[in-house]
Amino acid sequence: MSLRLEDTAPDFTAPSSMGTIHFHEYINNSWAMLFSHPADFTPVCTTELGRTSQLYSEFEKRSVKVLALSVDSVDNHLQWINDINNTQHTVINFPILADIHRQIAILYGMIHPNASETYTVRSLFIIDPHKKIKLIINYPASTGRNFHEILRVIDSLQLAANHNMVTPADWQAGDDVILPPSISTEEAKAMGHTNIQTITSYLRYIPAPKN
Ligand code: BEZ
Repeated sequence: MSLRLEDTAPDFTAPSSMGTIHFHEYINNSWAMLFSHPADFTPVCTTELGRTSQLYSEFEKRSVKVLALSVDSVDNHLQWINDINNTQHTVINFPILADIHRQIAILYGMIHPNASETYTVRSLFIIDPHKKIKLIINYPASTGRNFHEILRVIDSLQLAANHNMVTPADWQAGDDVILPPSISTEEAKAMGHTNIQTITSYLRYIPAPKN
C-alpha cells in the first residue's frame, strides 16, 4: 500500500553525506522536506540540488528541515556535491541520503517500475512536526521541480495548520486567503475577522494573517 496524505511518515536510519540520519530525530519538532533524485552526476538533479541550496534560507525561515535522497553512495554524493557547489555557485549544507539498498526508496514508493526498476523518480514529501505527510508529488526524471512552488505550497500548508485558513488557485504569499467551510461567518467575526469579503455563502475571503 503506498503512502497517502495524513499517514505518519515512516521512520528510518540511513547514512548520508553528513553522517547517519535518524529520520524522526532529524525532523524533531520541525517540518521536513524529503525528496528523491534519480542519480548522482546527472544534469537535472544537479540544478535541483543547486536551487534547493540557494533557497535554503527560505526553508529555514519556515522551519523546514531539508533532506535529499538518491540510491548512490556517500562517496559519490561527496564528489558530486563538489560539482554542484562549483557549477551552481552555492554551498550545500543539507544531507543527501545514500540509499544504496533502496530501503527508503521502497518504503516511500519512490521507485516507479514502469519508469525505472532501479532509480527513483523525483518524489517529494512535505512532513509536518507531528510527522504527518502533508504533500506528495512525483515528477518524472526529465522534469526539474519548481522549488518556488514548493515554498508556496509550504506557506499554504502552514497557514492551514496554524490559522485554519485555506488558499485559492494561484495564491501567492500575502494574497487574501479563504475561510474554510467549517468556520461560519459568525464564528469568523467572533474570532476577530472584521474584513470578510463574501462572494457567496461558501466563498469568503479574508486578508492573510501577518505571521
Ligand atoms: C537528470 O537528472 O538529468 C536525469 C536523471 C535521470 C534521467 C534523466 C535525467
